[in-house]
Amino acid sequence: MIEVRPEGPEDWWEVEALFDLCFAPGREALSSYRLREGVDPVPGLSLVARDEQGILAGAIRFWPVLVGGAEALLLGPVAVHPTHQGEGLGAFLIQEGVEAGRDRGWTRVMLVGDAPYYARYGFARLDGVEMPPPTNPDRVLGLALQDGAWDGLRGAVTRWSGEMH
Ligand SMILES: CC(C)(COP(=O)(O)OP(=O)(O)OC[C@H]1O[C@@H](n2cnc3c(N)ncnc32)[C@H](O)[C@@H]1OP(=O)(O)O)[C@@H](O)C(=O)NCCC(=O)NCCS
Repeated sequence: MIEVRPEGPEDWWEVEALFDLCFAPGREALSSYRLREGVDPVPGLSLVARDEQGILAGAIRFWPVLVGGAEALLLGPVAVHPTHQGEGLGAFLIQEGVEAGRDRGWTRVMLVGDAPYYARYGFARLDGVEMPPPTNPDRVLGLALQDGAWDGLRGAVTRWSGEMH
């Protein structure tokens, strides 16, 4: 049995340790981290999953960003502990988080990741959306939460400034 609930302040360092375990060393050098510096995650969207012993099995966070000046959700990091991978937990966290974003009025979500994995959730390459370098453009993916939300949207992805949903 896995329990999923919103991430609280007490979860922060445990989630960081899970991300350290699941990602290659130096993950914070990735360009997506430049967009997170000094910005809080979107309240209520980040989730933690714990097993029956209370051990952290998975986590997902979302940050707000601007794309060509328009607001978007940046999905990630998302990770599932190796002992729980392949059980559908990653899919559950992604779908719950994305739906919670839609419920809160977000119209588009993006991420930097493996297209073959994220295609199953409807994510597709975003042409003309530029992450801070160095980022492989083939890994810049988006999903519209409202019809046409990515249509014609191009430009640089920049750090959020402003009011949060
Ligand atoms: C990616 C990750 C979050 C998926 O979580 P999970 O709970 O194992 O995923 P699910 O059980 O929902 O789905 C597993 C499926 O995804 C596939 N998959 C996992 N990573 C993949 C990848 N990088 N590319 C393509 N497919 C991938 C598995 O092969 C499996 O396929 P199947 O459904 O055909 O058997 C998890 O493997 C993880 O934490 N990996 C390390 C960190 C990471 O890479 N995070 C994503 C950043 S882009």
